[in-house]
Amino acid sequence: MIQEPARDAIAAVLVALAFITPVRAEGDIARGAQAARMCMACHSFAPGRHMTGPSLAEVWGRKAGTADGFTRYSDALKHSGLIWNKQNLEAWLTNPAALVPGNAMDFPGIADAPTRADVVAYLEAVSTGRVTAPDRGLPNLKKADLASQVTAIRYCGDAYRLTTADRKTHTFWEFNLRIKTDGSAQGPLAGKPVLIGSGMHGDRAEVVFARPDEISTFIQRQCP
Ligand code: HEC
Repeated sequence: MIQEPARDAIAAVLVALAFITPVRAEGDIARGAQAARMCMACHSFAPGRHMTGPSLAEVWGRKAGTADGFTRYSDALKHSGLIWNKQNLEAWLTNPAALVPGNAMDFPGIADAPTRADVVAYLEAVSTGRVTAPDRGLPNLKKADLASQVTAIRYCGDAYRLTTADRKTHTFWEFNLRIKTDGSAQGPLAGKPVLIGSGMHGDRAEVVFARPDEISTFIQRQCP
């Protein structure tokens, strides 16, 4: 006779198999997670976090072109009438331009059919909450550390001098400092721009403001 704990273990395995087997037949979620890295230059899998492309967190079963808060859809995608089910995602990832001519996703498609199936399985698993996607999107700039919080920007000659909350000054040639805005929930607090980038010790960086109208008032023309 099987002891209680053993029976529990077998039951657990059976449940796990029931869960995994049909998925593996269609595409492998773990391999899909790896392959989906190629999407992450433009997409986040975190709900509501839009980048170049809309968040893919809840794409499964959704009508194309309807992610809440994403304002840059092409007319072509908005009017495509597609629902993002397995078949349409397969076709989209095979050749986006062929499925929806004139769409704005600058991506050639995935030529390899098994990899495509893996990515589609992953999209379903994330959308249905079966797996949690790592948020590889942008950092939350409301939580910037002292070394990244910009307290003053002075402009003189061809240079920007940035003071950060840790009382350090960073000087950049004006052409090497990118000025950006991020009005999303992850963007900086109003009036609290954030310094990020390829090393605050390097010769290039970017400073991100909450809104464009802050930029010219924050930057003071002042020589040291
Ligand atoms: C170069 C940037 C870029 C890459 C890389 C990219 N996408 Fe996109 N994606 C976009 C943009 C932009 C849109 C919106 C297209 C439009 O409006 O025509 C989009 C739209 C989509 C949509 C439709 C979403 C909706 O709400 O209707 C899906 C699904 C999608 N992408 C999946 C993927 C997947 C999966 C990958 C990786 C295999 C990927 N994308 C790679 C930029 C990209």
